[in-house]
This record gives sequence, C-alpha cells and structure tokens, in this order.
Amino acid sequence: MLSIGASGSTERHRQKLLRGRMPVHVGIIMDGNGRWAQERGRPRVEGHRSGSRALREIIKECISLGIDYLSAFAFSTENWTRPRGEVEALMALMVEFAAGEAADLAAHGVKVIPIGEVSSLPLRTREELERLSEFTRDGDSLTFFLAVNYGGRSEIHRAARELARRAVQGKVSPEDIDEECFRAHLYTHPHPDPDLIIRTGGEWRLSNFLLYQASYAEFVSTPVLWPDFSAGDLHRALRIYQNRERRFGQVKKRDSHGGTDA
Ligand code: FPP
Repeated sequence: MLSIGASGSTERHRQKLLRGRMPVHVGIIMDGNGRWAQERGRPRVEGHRSGSRALREIIKECISLGIDYLSAFAFSTENWTRPRGEVEALMALMVEFAAGEAADLAAHGVKVIPIGEVSSLPLRTREELERLSEFTRDGDSLTFFLAVNYGGRSEIHRAARELARRAVQGKVSPEDIDEECFRAHLYTHPHPDPDLIIRTGGEWRLSNFLLYQASYAEFVSTPVLWPDFSAGDLHRALRIYQNRERRFGQVKKRDSHGGTDA
C-alpha cells in the first residue's frame, strides 16, 4: 500500500531538501538483493521480494518529494542467464507487483511506463505489465519507467534498426539523423533524461542502464543493499546531487582558464 505520510525527522530532512535543487528524473539501479538474502541465510528470491517492497516505499517518497520521473532497473537483458528458478521468481514478482499495486499507483497519480523488450517476456508478465501501463496511463504526479528485459545497448540497436528501416523506405535521409531524431526512437521519448542515477549495493557501474540517456546524469553509489534502501538513503543521495556542480561539458563558472573537463 502506498500511504503517504512522514515521521518528524523524515519531514525535516524533506523540507531541507526541497529548498535545494531537485532532480527532475531519478534513475535507480537496484542492486544487492542477493547479498541481502545471503546475509540472512535466505534464498535470493527473498531478497528480490524485499526489494520489491523497498521499491514501493521509494515510489512513495518520490511522489512526496515532487520528483516528476523515476526509473528503476528491475530486470536486464543479461538477467536471463540467472538460474531458471530465480528468473521465474522475478517474473512472478513483476506479475504480483503489477496486479497488486495497480489501483494504489493509479490512485496516487503514478503513470507506469514499462521500458525494454516487454514483448519477449513470458505471457503473464507481459499482460500484467501492459495492463498496469494502461490502468495508470492518466497518472500525472510521477512517471515511473519500469525497466524489464531492458538493456541500454539493445535500446540503441533497436533505434538504429528502426532508423535504417525508415531510411530504406525513403522516410528519413541519413543527414537528418541527429540527436533529436535518434532520441525519438528511444523508449523514454519524449521524456527528460535522468539527472541523477543511484546505484545501491556498492558497485560503480551503469551495467547497461539508460546508456544513451545517462550521458550527463550525476552518479551516486551507496553500499546500502537495495532491500534496505530507505527514504533517508534517498535523501542522502539527493543531498549529494544538490551539492554537485553540473557542467554539461561547459567550462566551470568559477574557473574559466580552459580544459576539457566534463
Ligand atoms: C540485482 O540484485 C537486482 C535484480 C536483478 C532484480 C531487481 C528486482 C527487484 C528489486 C524486485 C522486483 C521488482 C519489481 C518491480 C517487482 P542482485 O540479485 O544482483 O544482488 P546481488 O548483487 O547481491 O547478487
């Protein structure tokens, strides 16, 4: 259930954050479910189940903070190589999430957009994700990209394939393929790129997440394992973001003596 409310100290932190610059779009690489379960001597699947609960809490917190876009990496194109039982459990969790949360997400104005090769997912998972997307389509408080069977490289290949097809059909000329044209073939079009990408579980990698869109995202890694990631951890990551100077390839404002720093 997504009940929105806050304890006193969370509320104080939230108010402090709101006075700073908030990202429009936050992306999350939810890592560490397996280790979380292992530390407790439990099967990995339980880590994923707790991870799914953590996701619900973070969606709630993003709404409360007024963040417009959230994207979360739930299953990558590489995750199919995991043991069959784990893959099946993850697919079942997606179904449970989609079916169990649809009404609540819609009630809170969350619009869910599944991104990735959804058409190649097991039928039940695909159907529930499509139903969730349809059911929440009018949400206007938070747009939530749920990356399932998603890979950044495969998204780029898909865009290139589509543009090549259109070029062969004479619908686009190669000279017209610029950033705007290319972006129009990405899953996240026409929405903004992530400003901040948070990775839990202590690693410092993008792991094929939103490769094109993350070009200028600020990256924050935390050792916290995803099932333990709380509203407070989100606030900490946002504070780090608020203290960063974003440059977009331009010369630093305070220091204009050259250099190619990004
Ligand atoms: C990475 O942790 C996490 C995943 C591959 C799956 C993420 C899935 C969820 C958070 C739950 C399901 C989501 C929904 C929307 C129902 P890992 O297993 O690689 O962890 P490890 O690095 O500790 O082994």
